Amino acid sequence: MGYGALLAWIAAVALGVPLHIALSPAFVPALLYLAVFGSVLAFAAYYTLLARIGPSRAAYVGVSSTVVALFVSTLFEGYAWHGEAVLGLALAGGQRAGAAAGAATVRRILGMKIDGRAWRSLWEVDDRPGHAPRLAIIDQARLPYALVTHELGDCAAVIDAIRGMQLRGAPLIGVAGAYGLALALRADASDAALAQAHAALLAARPTAVNLRWALARVHVVVAPLAPAARAAAAWREAGAIAEEDVALNRALGAHGAALIADAHRRTGRPVQVLTHCNAGWIATIDYGTALSAIYQAFDAGVPLHVWVDETRPRNQGLLTAWELAGHGVPHTLIVDNAGGHLMQHGRVDLVIVGADRVTRGGDVCNKIGTYLKALAAHDNGVPFYAAVPSPTIDWTLDDALAIPIEERSGDEVRRVAGRDGAAQLVGVATAVGNPGFDVTPARLVTGIVTERGVAAPAQLAAQFPELHAQSRGQPHEPPHDQPHAQKREPA
Ligand code: MRU
Repeated sequence: MGYGALLAWIAAVALGVPLHIALSPAFVPALLYLAVFGSVLAFAAYYTLLARIGPSRAAYVGVSSTVVALFVSTLFEGYAWHGEAVLGLALAGGQRAGAAAGAATVRRILGMKIDGRAWRSLWEVDDRPGHAPRLAIIDQARLPYALVTHELGDCAAVIDAIRGMQLRGAPLIGVAGAYGLALALRADASDAALAQAHAALLAARPTAVNLRWALARVHVVVAPLAPAARAAAAWREAGAIAEEDVALNRALGAHGAALIADAHRRTGRPVQVLTHCNAGWIATIDYGTALSAIYQAFDAGVPLHVWVDETRPRNQGLLTAWELAGHGVPHTLIVDNAGGHLMQHGRVDLVIVGADRVTRGGDVCNKIGTYLKALAAHDNGVPFYAAVPSPTIDWTLDDALAIPIEERSGDEVRRVAGRDGAAQLVGVATAVGNPGFDVTPARLVTGIVTERGVAAPAQLAAQFPELHAQSRGQPHEPPHDQPHAQKREPA
C-alpha cells in the first residue's frame, strides 16, 4: 500500500469505518476507486467552472494533464509504491498553467486588481458596530500617478467628487449618486431634503443618464417610506445598484469578448482593438464596459492588442493604459487624432467604446472625439461597437441631439497636468470651448453590446421590450437636467 492509501485508510478508520470492514481485502481497492472517482468528479467540476469563466488555453492543458495524471497515479497507488512520485510530478507539471487558471479564476471572482489586491472603484466601510456604514472611493483625479482613497461623509462631498471627476464614468457616477442621496437622507430625511438632494446630485454632471436613472430608482424606493426608514433603505438600494452594475458589466463583457474572439478567428492574428476614453473598471464599480470585453477576451487566451486614445483634455486614456498594464494586456497609447490613420492602414480590427447615454434608436453619446473615431471606422469598414449596461440606455429619447452635453471649464484645456506637475498652455485671454461629449449617430454604429447580447442599433428596443414599453409616456428630459445643456464660456 502506498502512503496516500495508508493515510486514506487511517482517515477512514478515524471517521468510524468499522475495523472488520477496514481490514477486509476488498476495502483498500474500493477506497482507491472511490478516491479516483471522487477526484475525477472534483476536477470535472473544476474544469466545468473554468470552461464557464474562460481561462487561457494553457490553463486547460495544465488542468487536464493534472486530472489525467491524478487518475493514473491513483491507480498506481494500489499496485506500486511510486504512485506519490507520479502524482507529485504531474502536479508540478500542471502547476504553472494551473496558477494561470487560478489567477483568471480569482480575477473573475474577486474582480479587478491593483498589485494583486482586489479593488472596486467605490465601496462601503462598515467597521464600527452600531454606526452607519461609510462610503469610500478611489480618487480618480490622482490616477494614474497616485493611488489615493477618500471617505465621503455627506452628500455635498459626493457632489464635489462627481463634479471634480474624482468619481467619473457613467455607471460609477450613477452608483455614487445613489449613495449620495442616502447620505443626504441620513442628515435630513424630509420630503423637502429628498427633493433638494435629488436635484443637486442630478445637476452634478448632466450627460451620463446613469445618474438620473440611479437617483430615480432610489427615489422610488424611499419616497413612500416614513422619514425614519429612508436613509437605511436608500443605502441598501445604492448597494444593490452597485452589485447589479458588477453583474451587468460581467455579462456584457462576455458578449463583447465573443466579438473579439470572432475577429481573431477571422484574421488568425492578434486582434487590434481601439478604444476611446476610459470605459474600464474604475469607470464602473468593477470590470468596466468596453474594457470588460477586452479583459475577458484576454483572459480567454485571445491574442489582442489595444490602441488607447489619450482623450484630451482630461486624458482618461492614461487611466485605460494604467488599467490595461495592471491586467497585463498589451496596449499602445496614441494621441486622439491617430485613430483614423491607423484604420486607413488596416491596423485596427474593431473599435469598442463605452457610453454615457444611448438613445433607444442606438445613437451613442460618449466622450468627445468618439464621433470622429466612428466616422473613420465607417470610412474604413472597421466595425464600431459601444458596450453599455442597460441603465445607460435612455428609453425616453429619440433625438440624440437633445442629449445635454456638458460644457466643462476651459481651464482643463488651457492647462496640462502630468506626473511631474502642471503647465499652463495658454492664458485665460484665450477663448476655449470644452464640450465633454459628442453623439455618434446610430448609422455609424455596428452594434450595441449589452448584458443581453449584441444588437444592431435598430434592434436595441427589441432586446429590452419591457424597459422600452415602460418608458412610453415618460417625459423626455426632466426639467432640472436642462440648464447644463450648451452652457458655454463667454467667447
Ligand atoms: O467624463 P468622464 O470621464 O466621466 O467620461 C467617461 C466616458 O465617457 C466613458 O467612456 C463612459 O462613461 C463609459 S464608462 C464605462
